[in-house]
Amino acid sequence: MTESPAFARRHLLGIEELSAAEIACLLDVADGYVEQNRRPDKKTALLRGRAVINLFFENSTRTRTSFELAGKRLGADTINMSVGASSIKKGETLIDTAMTLNAMHPDVLVVRHPDSGAVKLLSEKVRGAVINAGDGSHEHPTQALLDALTIRRRLGRLEGLTVAICGDVLHSRVARSNIHLLNIMGARVRVVAPPTLVPSDAERLGVEIFHDMRKGLKDADIVMMLRLQQERMNGSYVPSTREYFRFFGLTYEVLEHARPHALIMHPGPMNRGVEIDSEVADDIHRSVILEQVELGVAVRMACLDLLMRARGNEGVAA
Ligand code: NCD
Repeated sequence: MTESPAFARRHLLGIEELSAAEIACLLDVADGYVEQNRRPDKKTALLRGRAVINLFFENSTRTRTSFELAGKRLGADTINMSVGASSIKKGETLIDTAMTLNAMHPDVLVVRHPDSGAVKLLSEKVRGAVINAGDGSHEHPTQALLDALTIRRRLGRLEGLTVAICGDVLHSRVARSNIHLLNIMGARVRVVAPPTLVPSDAERLGVEIFHDMRKGLKDADIVMMLRLQQERMNGSYVPSTREYFRFFGLTYEVLEHARPHALIMHPGPMNRGVEIDSEVADDIHRSVILEQVELGVAVRMACLDLLMRARGNEGVAA
């Protein structure tokens, strides 16, 4: 593999600190892996001998599986650790867990944690590369990258597109990473949500804010729906899920206001009948939700590949 001067980071902690060139580099490399993943023989030996630990302090199905497959397809040894169920329960701190794993010389730690900033803190304590797989409501960089790859492959570009990010933006690290990425790549970003679910710093993030789906979706190229994250709500942000669906659910009627070619996206897991109508979610002509899942593996392979290339033969031992 050739060197990749466009991406020379030690960790992937967030989209906010990346440049357009770095994002484009990650997407270009991921594009190549999409083809590899469609072949019967999907495996290479690029990361043979490397160890990737998935350290998840929060539940996850698709992100954890996706990283596990990505590591395995590149020939790395991948290990999963769900911490909610083990040492944390016994009082071990985040840093103790990190130091324990660090002693086993992992080359990459893929970390998900319920607190914003926890993954960065951990990255300062370990020698291997750290990938943020979601920290609180802060960032989820690989999700934004796979969303960008999906859009770029379907519509040919990101620049100049109008993207409506709809729903529970307040609790969503997916929204935050996407807002950064789309702004960096020159798209126009709208946030469509009830006032209670718009973060207080939204204007500073460089988005246009709408509280009405019809207005927010007008002429949008992309309609990105978000899950209503009820597990993060300790108070009443929405009157009821039925009311929420009536005003902020994506239906064919509301979708009429977007561009005719507009794509429907959702990071999953979906609450059918809460933020999105089931039929719309399953519409093979409009919804790219399963394509997002497919491309997620390729994006994670690209992240592992580029982080390891950036470190060259730097050993993690000693
Ligand atoms: C998201 C997450 O965990 O942040 N899911 C995912 O990674 N695909 C979004 C969500 O939980 O709603």
